[in-house]
Amino acid sequence: REQIGKLSLLIDTADTLLGGGIETQSITEFYGEFGSGKSQITHQLCVNVQLPKDNGGLHGRAIFIDTEDTFRPDRIDDMVRGLPDEVIQATMIDRGIDGDVDDAAALNELVDHVLNHIHVAKGFNSAHQILLSEKARELAGKYADTEWPVQVICVDSLTAHFRAEYIGRGKLAERQQKLNKHLHDLIQLANLHNTAIVVTNQVSSNPDSFFGDPTQPIGGHILGHSSTVRIYLRKSKGNKRIVRLVDAPNLPDGEAVIRIVEPGLKS
Ligand code: GTP
Repeated sequence: REQIGKLSLLIDTADTLLGGGIETQSITEFYGEFGSGKSQITHQLCVNVQLPKDNGGLHGRAIFIDTEDTFRPDRIDDMVRGLPDEVIQATMIDRGIDGDVDDAAALNELVDHVLNHIHVAKGFNSAHQILLSEKARELAGKYADTEWPVQVICVDSLTAHFRAEYIGRGKLAERQQKLNKHLHDLIQLANLHNTAIVVTNQVSSNPDSFFGDPTQPIGGHILGHSSTVRIYLRKSKGNKRIVRLVDAPNLPDGEAVIRIVEPGLKS
């Protein structure tokens, strides 16, 4: 078994909360209501995963399974330019890009390079989403022994299609079974290729629904699995968001505050 990698958010308080970052060989679930920042986190991780290991990254590429049409290349552009200067510099050197943070052409080249190492696949329904996780496994295999292995796979949103397609209590068991199988496939892939899996999940906003507790993710907590870390995202004042670690097996529960700003997620 390869050594577990840690993918940093580049936010000290949040990284400390996570025990150093998002782990490979594991599934990390971000859940929260609309606008809580779930998609922003997945975008930021697709950037950070590509940073040199000394700068909090995993020197790898990303796969983004996009089920709600949330992927925005422009946002990746913001986040690359929004990295700390010394991280940009180190990343340019790592990629053999000539120039520095004040060099517009070099910065553009860096943005293009980062975008080219994010594989975006749109999932049109739950069956297609499952198929895409099989494609992700093939892609991870293809790049396994290359300079840029797949180091993170984001599924944003994990549950939206399942929720829309399996409606009512009569379908709940089937939905859960399909979701569990999907997650099982993902965790196998994570173990096989030492990859981090990051999934997003909405919380219920309907007080009459089966999972009516607004602090509970749709479908209950995904997989009561030891390799799953759950993080609850909650809106605070303005651009502030509270990141709360929930029931992590080896880490104390706790919270950190982050901000969603133009250059990305910051302290
Ligand atoms: P749903 O997809 O609706 O469930 O929400 P989500 O949890 O995925 O939220 P998302 O990550 O889309 O976060 C939306 C929030 O991020 C917005 O309310 C904005 O505050 C912030 N945001 C999104 N894009 C930008 C941007 O380009 N610049 C800045 N400064 N903030 C942004």
